[in-house]
Amino acid sequence: MTRHRIAAIGGDGIGVEVVEACLQVLEVLAQRDGGFGLDVTRFDWSTERYRRTGAFMPEDGAEQLRAFDAILFGAVGVPDVPDHLTLWGLRLAICQPLDQYANVRPTRMLPGIESPLRGVGRGDLDWVIVRENSEGEYAGQGGRSHPGLPLEVATDVSIFTRAGVERIMRYAFRLAQSRPRKLLTVVTKSNAQRHGLVLWDQIAAEVAREFPDVTWDKMLVDAMTVRMVMQPASLDTVVATNLHADILSDLAAALAGSIGVAPTANLNPERDAPSMFEPIHGSAFDIAGKGVANPVATFWTAALMLDHLNETAAANRLMQAVEAVTADPALHTPDLGGSATTQDVTQAVIAAIRGRN
Ligand code: NAI
Ligand code: MG
Repeated sequence: MTRHRIAAIGGDGIGVEVVEACLQVLEVLAQRDGGFGLDVTRFDWSTERYRRTGAFMPEDGAEQLRAFDAILFGAVGVPDVPDHLTLWGLRLAICQPLDQYANVRPTRMLPGIESPLRGVGRGDLDWVIVRENSEGEYAGQGGRSHPGLPLEVATDVSIFTRAGVERIMRYAFRLAQSRPRKLLTVVTKSNAQRHGLVLWDQIAAEVAREFPDVTWDKMLVDAMTVRMVMQPASLDTVVATNLHADILSDLAAALAGSIGVAPTANLNPERDAPSMFEPIHGSAFDIAGKGVANPVATFWTAALMLDHLNETAAANRLMQAVEAVTADPALHTPDLGGSATTQDVTQAVIAAIRGRN
């Protein structure tokens, strides 16, 4: 029997709640499937650890994670610690050294969940957004000078490398090629950003020649928001920079019903380090501790993780169970307009996996 080593990092707020719910589901799934086992190690890396020790994770944290086959992550962030410390102290401190350069964000309408867009049915919104996850606007270059003086200055420099753009374009074209519509939209802003994003466009056109069966087009990011709302069915696979895709994928999640159902995979496609799987949402301190966080995003995330681990049958069984549960409005959490709790949804998914509903 194959056993997969999973590092579980709940983090802060509802991150801990949804990861624990997900581990309950995964345990039942592995028992039911019988073909694989999961060895889960929990890490308490979080803002709580930062307050206690001065660091969100040990100095060799990313190195420790190399011993695992995959990482299941919740979210990090609390109201009274600046978000750039938490993000760079934990999430990016994992993604960057493990070179998880492809952030993949599927969005589609789950049964029973309505889009806030009028007249959008299940087939009309089925996208995968590929986010460049290693450089661009979040490369971390920049600084501050003259602190506190009238001439104080702060810079953030976007970095676009040929190697970085080529690999994300190739990943996106290959993904588009694997989907039935073979359709890719390259998001850009090369009218205003006349260096990095001109290189981005140029490399997209070069890589496109390797994929003659993929139809592709180019959209400026501002116009892209309009197209997502007005013509959702015209889109399939999308590739965008770190910042642009960060924003567009929150919009995508909202158009598909709730950020509480949106999953993401931070992939190291060459598999020379483990990949990390997390819901798109943050630690949601407005609802933390109330037991009402929607765990569906994390369950879908776990299905992406199982797919990556080549446990396709288990991934499909999990998604079928999740879809059976979302189809029932009595099992919707408050973000979807219902009154179910995290545990109501979790137990219903477990029952569906066991085949009792
Ligand atoms: P958020 O995603 O935590 O919350 C936005 C809104 O969506 C809130 O009203 C929240 O209640 C709701 N929501 C989010 N997930 C939900 C779920 N599963 N079920 C039901 N409702 C849900 O974003 P926000 O408020 O901007 O950030 C809160 C903290 O999380 C900040 O510290 C931020 O930096 C951090 N954050 C961390 C991320 C990560 O670790 N990957 C990603 C995004 C934000
Ligand atoms: Mg985001």
